[in-house]
Amino acid sequence: MTPSSPLEGKHIVLGICGGIAAYKSVSLLRLFIKAGAEVQVVITPAGKQFITPVTLSALSHKPVVSEFFTANTGEWHSHVDLGMWADCMVIAPATASTIGKMANGIADNMLVTTYLSAKSQVFVAPAMDLDMMAHPSTTRNIDLLRSYGNIIIEPEDGYLASGLVGKGRMEEPENILKVVEQFFEKASDKTLKGKKVLITAGPTYEKIDPVRFIGNFSTGKMGFALAAEFARRGADVTLVAGPVSLPTPDHNIRRIDVMSAREMLEACETECGDSDYAVMCAAVADYAPENELDRKIKREHEDVPVLRLKKNPDIAATLGRMKREGQTLVGFALETDHELEHAVEKLQRKNLDFIVLNSMRTPGAGFGTDTNAVTIISRDGTKAEIGLKSKAEVASDIIDNII
Ligand code: CTP
Repeated sequence: MTPSSPLEGKHIVLGICGGIAAYKSVSLLRLFIKAGAEVQVVITPAGKQFITPVTLSALSHKPVVSEFFTANTGEWHSHVDLGMWADCMVIAPATASTIGKMANGIADNMLVTTYLSAKSQVFVAPAMDLDMMAHPSTTRNIDLLRSYGNIIIEPEDGYLASGLVGKGRMEEPENILKVVEQFFEKASDKTLKGKKVLITAGPTYEKIDPVRFIGNFSTGKMGFALAAEFARRGADVTLVAGPVSLPTPDHNIRRIDVMSAREMLEACETECGDSDYAVMCAAVADYAPENELDRKIKREHEDVPVLRLKKNPDIAATLGRMKREGQTLVGFALETDHELEHAVEKLQRKNLDFIVLNSMRTPGAGFGTDTNAVTIISRDGTKAEIGLKSKAEVASDIIDNII
């Protein structure tokens, strides 16, 4: 046993599907056991055609689960209990068929029902032939899993069982182990304890009259994911949220709900003083109606009403001017063209330390999605590209970069 492994004492459900890479699951199981984890193997009926339950139960010291009950004794195997027992679930290899079932909730075997019951982190290591891997159905299903917060351990390029060469080889067991270990290492990371963080999230609504507003499509998901990750790492988080319909992701987060840019600015000015990190993730409306009407604009007007606008305050730039020694100010930029140029210009103009660039041109990234892809640009010009991942993972990468 490796005494220092973050997997020591952890409960892992290892899901094995019917693919040739199932032979590698034996090594993965051994590595988990060596690292001190308790492993329950759940295998699909097709999986048993590739690797025998005897090998797996001998190595895991537990009977392998495959069916909903044991035929001769009638013993019921509860996927709900297994889902609750698991500190994480690792599905390796994950075949196209199982990935499709997981993405769409087709619970016709023990592995998929356990997946649907699991409350903990799920890791998915696909393995299949290159054309199956590249099929739009597979890529869409993998994107769906990612959007549910599952961590996809991408397959490698290489020789495949079919004799073809391409992307589809299951990641090597040693590397899967590393990904799972890193996850638990991070989970116990409380290095931001004592740090104060201010985050803005969501859109702002600028009232036109009592029933109408100027707003934008921001849902607040990225800002809420950042708040959750900062809080998980022990930081003391204040989340200034525009009008969004998201629950507060962690009971330790102090949430201030606001409506307009002006209200958001007031909350930020009050809260920013002693914060170590201020992350401006909100999509603040740049303009507000010059006058907010106290009565609804009626249709019977002879002329089409003309809406005069005034400039809203720039919250990030205001905090940039107030910034004190030791404070880190992070902004976001959502651009449709000349992305890098605009982002760097904003970083300088607003006196930011980092700017996180979202591109409207990346499918799966931006407003309302559960995934994102960003470039983090620092004041000294260093750039870190974060490929398409769940917003939770992107939040973690952003924090790794800025701290
Ligand atoms: N921001 C802000 N207050 C505003 C406008 C933007 O705090 N009134 C912040 C955003 O939260 C983001 C950064 O500034 O962190 C960049 O926002 P963005 O809308 O991309 O930039 P703008 O300055 O509004 O420029 P433009 O809309 O012209 O691209």
